[in-house]
Amino acid sequence: MSLNTRERLIVALDLPSVAAAEAMVSRLGDTVGFYKIGYQLAFAGGLPFAAGLIAAGKQVFLDLKLHDIGNTVAKGVESVAQLGATFLTVHAYPQTMKAAVEGKRGAKLRILAVTVLTSYDDADLAAAGYDMSVGELAAARAAQARDIGVDGLVCSAEEVGKLRDIAGPGMTLVTPGIRPAGSASGDQKRIMTPARAIEAGADYLVIGRPIVEARDPKAAADAIVAEIESATRK
Ligand code: C5P
Repeated sequence: MSLNTRERLIVALDLPSVAAAEAMVSRLGDTVGFYKIGYQLAFAGGLPFAAGLIAAGKQVFLDLKLHDIGNTVAKGVESVAQLGATFLTVHAYPQTMKAAVEGKRGAKLRILAVTVLTSYDDADLAAAGYDMSVGELAAARAAQARDIGVDGLVCSAEEVGKLRDIAGPGMTLVTPGIRPAGSASGDQKRIMTPARAIEAGADYLVIGRPIVEARDPKAAADAIVAEIESATRK
């Protein structure tokens, strides 16, 4: 897949208000062209804000992790496609994934499936009624996503190699849990540096706190773009 370096960095705007998000986007300027908006900002005016970002030439990843009956998912995805978003997440249930693929028909929107939430371990799955390990369920759902025609997967950098084998070269792998050497891990348990994640085969990196909480967010983002660039040239 041929992507320009800058486009491979997606900054997570995990911020409480549109005003805070606008200030961050303006500080990051041309360094960042792709932003992720999740529950916190989406439910605080973040959807009109997303439309504004798109109108300003930025790409938007709506991390809304949809899951509902098929008709509701398909209609919701149609609305997200009309907004002009580039990526949208859904939970990797077959009905949900099929409905999402149907809902985005003809749009440039790409659907990303979340296989198993990274906060779940085998005991959490058992408590939720599943008789499978996290690894087994993630692999099974990745194969279903591929067969249904989902565009990509969200996965940890550690899973990229294994999921690439299942997904094949055409699916987009998007990886959070990235920490530049020396930065705080926060609540992320499975972390990797930007360069290692790119070398492992990730297409896009989602990075929040190491940039938005940095004293100089633009310098932090510039350093990460440079690291992605050097890993891509290898
Ligand atoms: O601040 P940090 O770099 O940890 O942010 C990572 C972003 O990626 C957050 O918005 C988080 O919700 C998201 N994410 C994640 N792990 C997943 C899926 C999404 O960290 N499995």
